[in-house]
Amino acid sequence: MKLILCLTLICGIFSTALQCQTCTDPQSSNTELRTCSSETMCVTGALQGTTSFGSTVQEIYKVCALSSLCPATGNHSFALSTSQNNIAASVQCCNEDNCNTETPQFLSVQPNGLKCYSCDTTSSSCSNKVQCRGIEDRCFKANVTYEQTTLLSGCMSANKCSDPPGKTMFAPDAKITCCGTNLCNSASSITKTITCLLLGFLVFSFF
Ligand SMILES: *[C@@H]1O[C@H](CO)[C@@H](O)[C@H](O)[C@H]1NC(C)=O
Ligand SMILES: *[C@@H]1O[C@H](CO)[C@@H](O)[C@H](O)[C@H]1NC(C)=O
Repeated sequence: MKLILCLTLICGIFSTALQCQTCTDPQSSNTELRTCSSETMCVTGALQGTTSFGSTVQEIYKVCALSSLCPATGNHSFALSTSQNNIAASVQCCNEDNCNTETPQFLSVQPNGLKCYSCDTTSSSCSNKVQCRGIEDRCFKANVTYEQTTLLSGCMSANKCSDPPGKTMFAPDAKITCCGTNLCNSASSITKTITCLLLGFLVFSFF
């Protein structure tokens, strides 16, 4: 009896916590309403990506969102391609109970005419050229420090160029520069090798 009373009290105190639809399977065919812990946004999205190992991911997701993914309500879709990885994520953020019910569309991944240089982390060369796709309207380069400093470059959507330090989708202190014309992001070669860095960070930033 005491326990039930306590629980009721606790529920009462925290009744302002946000509730979001949450997927219970990768295709999002089953969802349930869950109470978020510290998150203040719900997100519904559609994620397509290819890792350095050539495996592809295609997923619908609905979940309580971290502020790195949903800094505000609305459309925070983004995309990125390098010579080894790519990701195109439709991201819709909202902040009311049970607001993330819609099933989102996957983003276009059609080539859009822009070409950028990309560093290949296995050969240490930054002279690969990648064809940008869909909403990727900028060439970027980024110093990513994760165990060691590595240069990443390729195509990216402009909204991810202006992420403040500490809130980028790369390592926390990544320095990103962007430009908007063909092959404007040339960079000297990288010296160290890394694998699977990129998608690792991205996946972390979702869950
Ligand atoms: C979200 O924004 C992207 C461009 O940044 C656009 O391609 C997409 O259609 C938008 N999605 C919705 C649902 O408005
Ligand atoms: C990355 O770091 C190197 C060495 O610290 C520096 O020379 C280069 O300008 C940096 N690049 C960017 C894009 O910040």
